[in-house]
Amino acid sequence: MSSLTSYKKLVRSYPILTKQMTKKRLEIILRELNTVIEADIPGDIAEFGCYSGTTSLFIRRLLDTWEEPREFHVYDSFSGLPPKSIEDASVAGSDFKAGELKVSKRDLIKNFKKANLKLPIIHKGWFSELKEKDVPTKIAFAFLDGDFYDSIIDSLTIVWPRLNAKGKIIIDDFGKSNLPGVSRAVGDFFKNKEVNLKHEQDLAIIKKP
Ligand SMILES: C[S@@+](CC[C@H](N)C(=O)[O-])C[C@H]1O[C@@H](n2cnc3c(N)ncnc32)[C@H](O)[C@@H]1O
Repeated sequence: MSSLTSYKKLVRSYPILTKQMTKKRLEIILRELNTVIEADIPGDIAEFGCYSGTTSLFIRRLLDTWEEPREFHVYDSFSGLPPKSIEDASVAGSDFKAGELKVSKRDLIKNFKKANLKLPIIHKGWFSELKEKDVPTKIAFAFLDGDFYDSIIDSLTIVWPRLNAKGKIIIDDFGKSNLPGVSRAVGDFFKNKEVNLKHEQDLAIIKKP
Protein backbone atom coordinates (compact mmCIF):
# COMPACT_ATOMS: atom_id res chain seq x y z
CA MET A 1 0.00 0.00 0.00
CA SER A 2 1.41 3.37 -0.95
CA SER A 3 -0.21 5.71 1.55
CA LEU A 4 -0.22 5.15 5.29
CA THR A 5 -3.60 6.82 5.54
CA SER A 6 -5.38 4.56 3.05
CA TYR A 7 -7.33 2.92 5.87
CA LYS A 8 -8.99 6.31 6.46
CA LYS A 9 -9.93 6.45 2.82
CA LEU A 10 -11.58 3.03 3.09
CA VAL A 11 -13.73 4.25 5.98
CA ARG A 12 -14.73 7.32 3.96
CA SER A 13 -15.37 5.44 0.73
CA TYR A 14 -17.70 2.60 1.73
CA PRO A 15 -20.99 2.51 3.63
CA ILE A 16 -21.21 1.13 7.15
CA LEU A 17 -23.88 -1.55 6.85
CA THR A 18 -25.37 -1.67 10.35
CA LYS A 19 -25.47 0.23 13.64
CA GLN A 20 -23.02 -2.26 15.15
CA MET A 21 -20.08 -0.05 14.15
CA THR A 22 -19.28 3.66 13.88
CA LYS A 23 -16.83 5.43 11.58
CA LYS A 24 -14.74 6.57 14.55
CA ARG A 25 -14.33 3.09 16.00
CA LEU A 26 -13.84 1.53 12.59
CA GLU A 27 -11.04 3.95 11.83
CA ILE A 28 -9.27 2.96 15.07
CA ILE A 29 -9.70 -0.76 14.36
CA LEU A 30 -8.28 -0.35 10.85
CA ARG A 31 -5.47 1.91 12.10
CA GLU A 32 -4.36 -0.81 14.53
CA LEU A 33 -4.70 -3.58 11.94
CA ASN A 34 -2.73 -1.42 9.53
CA THR A 35 0.19 -1.18 11.98
CA VAL A 36 0.22 -4.96 12.35
CA ILE A 37 0.31 -5.51 8.58
CA GLU A 38 2.81 -2.74 7.98
CA ALA A 39 5.17 -4.23 10.57
CA ASP A 40 4.66 -7.65 8.95
CA ILE A 41 3.71 -9.31 12.24
CA PRO A 42 3.19 -13.00 11.39
CA GLY A 43 -0.17 -14.66 12.05
CA ASP A 44 -3.74 -14.77 10.83
CA ILE A 45 -6.58 -12.32 11.41
CA ALA A 46 -9.75 -13.15 13.37
CA GLU A 47 -13.05 -11.58 14.34
CA PHE A 48 -15.12 -13.12 17.14
CA GLY A 49 -18.72 -11.96 16.75
CA CYS A 50 -18.87 -11.00 13.08
CA TYR A 51 -22.66 -10.64 12.81
CA SER A 52 -23.54 -9.73 9.19
CA GLY A 53 -20.04 -8.43 8.48
CA THR A 54 -20.16 -4.68 9.10
CA THR A 55 -16.56 -4.65 10.34
CA SER A 56 -15.45 -7.82 8.53
CA LEU A 57 -15.97 -6.18 5.13
CA PHE A 58 -13.57 -3.37 6.06
CA ILE A 59 -11.00 -5.77 7.49
CA ARG A 60 -11.12 -7.67 4.19
CA ARG A 61 -10.77 -4.43 2.21
CA LEU A 62 -7.70 -3.40 4.19
CA LEU A 63 -6.13 -6.85 3.74
CA ASP A 64 -6.82 -6.58 0.01
CA THR A 65 -5.21 -3.14 -0.18
CA TRP A 66 -2.03 -4.73 1.12
CA GLU A 67 -2.52 -7.83 -1.08
CA GLU A 68 -2.23 -9.85 2.12
CA PRO A 69 -2.25 -13.62 1.66
CA ARG A 70 -2.89 -14.37 5.34
CA GLU A 71 -6.14 -16.03 6.40
CA PHE A 72 -9.10 -14.13 7.79
CA HIS A 73 -11.31 -16.17 10.14
CA VAL A 74 -14.71 -14.98 11.38
CA TYR A 75 -16.76 -16.56 14.16
CA ASP A 76 -20.40 -16.28 15.15
CA SER A 77 -23.19 -18.40 16.58
CA PHE A 78 -25.46 -17.14 13.79
CA SER A 79 -28.12 -17.70 16.48
CA GLY A 80 -27.70 -14.26 17.98
CA LEU A 81 -26.49 -13.45 21.48
CA PRO A 82 -26.26 -16.17 24.15
CA PRO A 83 -28.03 -15.69 27.52
CA LYS A 84 -26.53 -13.03 29.80
CA SER A 85 -24.64 -14.05 32.90
CA ILE A 86 -24.79 -12.29 36.27
CA GLU A 87 -21.71 -10.22 35.27
CA ASP A 88 -23.72 -8.65 32.43
CA ALA A 89 -26.36 -7.18 34.73
CA SER A 90 -26.57 -3.41 34.35
CA VAL A 91 -28.78 -0.51 35.31
CA ALA A 92 -29.58 -0.25 31.62
CA GLY A 93 -31.84 -3.24 32.43
CA SER A 94 -33.18 -5.50 29.76
CA ASP A 95 -31.16 -4.28 26.77
CA PHE A 96 -29.64 -7.11 24.75
CA LYS A 97 -31.49 -10.38 25.17
CA ALA A 98 -30.55 -13.93 24.20
CA GLY A 99 -31.25 -14.44 20.51
CA GLU A 100 -30.94 -10.73 19.65
CA LEU A 101 -28.67 -9.84 16.71
CA LYS A 102 -29.49 -13.07 14.94
CA VAL A 103 -28.42 -13.15 11.30
CA SER A 104 -27.71 -16.12 9.09
CA LYS A 105 -24.39 -17.22 7.63
CA ARG A 106 -26.10 -16.63 4.28
CA ASP A 107 -26.65 -12.92 5.19
CA LEU A 108 -22.92 -12.55 5.85
CA ILE A 109 -22.00 -14.30 2.60
CA LYS A 110 -24.49 -12.13 0.70
CA ASN A 111 -22.86 -8.95 2.02
CA PHE A 112 -19.40 -10.13 0.97
CA LYS A 113 -20.63 -11.13 -2.50
CA LYS A 114 -22.47 -7.83 -2.97
CA ALA A 115 -19.26 -5.99 -2.07
CA ASN A 116 -17.34 -8.22 -4.47
CA LEU A 117 -14.95 -9.33 -1.72
CA LYS A 118 -13.28 -12.66 -1.04
CA LEU A 119 -15.14 -14.62 1.63
CA PRO A 120 -13.48 -15.04 5.02
CA ILE A 121 -13.22 -18.50 6.58
CA ILE A 122 -16.57 -18.64 8.38
CA HIS A 123 -17.05 -20.62 11.61
CA LYS A 124 -20.59 -21.11 12.88
CA GLY A 125 -21.05 -22.00 16.55
CA TRP A 126 -20.57 -20.84 20.14
CA PHE A 127 -17.04 -19.65 20.94
CA SER A 128 -16.88 -22.06 23.90
CA GLU A 129 -17.47 -25.02 21.58
CA LEU A 130 -14.73 -24.28 19.05
CA LYS A 131 -12.18 -27.04 18.49
CA GLU A 132 -8.44 -26.67 18.02
CA LYS A 133 -8.82 -27.18 14.25
CA ASP A 134 -11.19 -24.17 14.01
CA VAL A 135 -8.61 -21.68 15.24
CA PRO A 136 -5.37 -20.50 13.59
CA THR A 137 -2.25 -21.54 15.48
CA LYS A 138 -0.82 -17.98 15.27
CA ILE A 139 -2.92 -14.83 15.41
CA ALA A 140 -1.55 -11.39 14.50
CA PHE A 141 -4.74 -9.40 15.02
CA ALA A 142 -8.13 -10.17 16.55
CA PHE A 143 -11.26 -8.10 16.94
CA LEU A 144 -13.51 -9.35 19.76
CA ASP A 145 -17.12 -8.19 19.65
CA GLY A 146 -19.14 -10.73 21.62
CA ASP A 147 -20.87 -8.15 23.88
CA PHE A 148 -21.21 -10.35 27.00
CA TYR A 149 -18.92 -11.47 29.83
CA ASP A 150 -18.71 -15.16 28.90
CA SER A 151 -18.29 -14.38 25.20
CA ILE A 152 -15.32 -12.10 25.88
CA ILE A 153 -13.73 -14.57 28.34
CA ASP A 154 -14.22 -17.41 25.83
CA SER A 155 -12.73 -15.46 22.91
CA LEU A 156 -9.80 -14.15 24.99
CA THR A 157 -9.11 -17.70 26.19
CA ILE A 158 -8.77 -18.74 22.55
CA VAL A 159 -6.87 -15.72 21.22
CA TRP A 160 -4.41 -14.72 23.99
CA PRO A 161 -2.23 -17.86 23.93
CA ARG A 162 -2.12 -17.75 20.11
CA LEU A 163 -1.42 -14.03 19.80
CA ASN A 164 1.94 -13.15 18.29
CA ALA A 165 4.18 -11.34 20.83
CA LYS A 166 3.75 -8.19 18.71
CA GLY A 167 0.13 -8.79 17.72
CA LYS A 168 -2.93 -6.86 18.84
CA ILE A 169 -6.42 -7.54 20.17
CA ILE A 170 -9.20 -4.98 20.01
CA ILE A 171 -12.29 -5.44 22.16
CA ASP A 172 -15.47 -3.52 21.37
CA ASP A 173 -17.81 -1.98 23.97
CA PHE A 174 -15.07 -1.62 26.59
CA GLY A 175 -16.24 0.70 29.37
CA LYS A 176 -19.82 0.89 28.10
CA SER A 177 -22.31 0.99 30.96
CA ASN A 178 -24.99 -0.96 29.11
CA LEU A 179 -22.58 -3.85 28.44
CA PRO A 180 -20.64 -4.03 31.74
CA GLY A 181 -19.71 -7.68 31.19
CA VAL A 182 -17.13 -6.65 28.60
CA SER A 183 -14.97 -4.59 31.00
CA ARG A 184 -15.51 -7.12 33.80
CA ALA A 185 -14.33 -9.94 31.54
CA VAL A 186 -11.22 -7.99 30.52
CA GLY A 187 -10.47 -7.17 34.18
CA ASP A 188 -10.92 -10.78 35.30
CA PHE A 189 -9.05 -12.33 32.38
CA PHE A 190 -5.98 -10.14 32.80
CA LYS A 191 -6.03 -10.05 36.63
CA ASN A 192 -2.85 -12.10 36.98
CA LYS A 193 -1.35 -11.43 33.55
CA GLU A 194 1.00 -8.77 32.25
CA VAL A 195 -0.80 -6.76 29.60
CA ASN A 196 -0.61 -3.43 27.84
CA LEU A 197 -4.11 -1.93 27.55
CA LYS A 198 -5.19 1.36 26.02
CA HIS A 199 -8.79 2.62 26.13
CA GLU A 200 -10.03 4.65 23.15
CA GLN A 201 -13.61 5.29 21.96
CA ASP A 202 -15.25 2.29 23.70
CA LEU A 203 -12.45 0.06 22.45
CA ALA A 204 -9.77 -1.74 24.45
CA ILE A 205 -6.55 -1.98 22.45
CA ILE A 206 -4.52 -4.80 23.92
CA LYS A 207 -0.93 -5.88 23.38
CA LYS A 208 1.54 -8.15 25.13
CA PRO A 209 3.95 -6.04 27.25
C1 LIG B 1 -22.42 -6.79 18.34
S1 LIG B 1 -22.56 -8.15 17.28
C2 LIG B 1 -21.08 -8.10 16.35
C3 LIG B 1 -21.03 -6.98 15.38
C4 LIG B 1 -19.97 -7.16 14.32
N1 LIG B 1 -18.64 -7.24 14.88
C5 LIG B 1 -20.05 -6.05 13.31
O1 LIG B 1 -19.10 -5.26 13.17
O2 LIG B 1 -21.08 -5.94 12.67
C6 LIG B 1 -22.24 -9.48 18.38
C7 LIG B 1 -22.22 -10.83 17.67
O3 LIG B 1 -21.58 -11.76 18.52
C8 LIG B 1 -22.21 -13.01 18.42
N2 LIG B 1 -21.90 -13.70 19.68
C9 LIG B 1 -21.94 -13.18 20.92
N3 LIG B 1 -21.53 -14.08 21.82
C10 LIG B 1 -21.20 -15.21 21.13
C11 LIG B 1 -20.68 -16.48 21.52
N4 LIG B 1 -20.43 -16.77 22.80
N5 LIG B 1 -20.46 -17.40 20.55
C12 LIG B 1 -20.73 -17.11 19.25
N6 LIG B 1 -21.21 -15.92 18.82
C13 LIG B 1 -21.44 -14.97 19.76
C14 LIG B 1 -23.68 -12.69 18.21
O4 LIG B 1 -24.34 -13.72 17.53
C15 LIG B 1 -23.62 -11.39 17.38
O5 LIG B 1 -23.73 -11.66 16.01
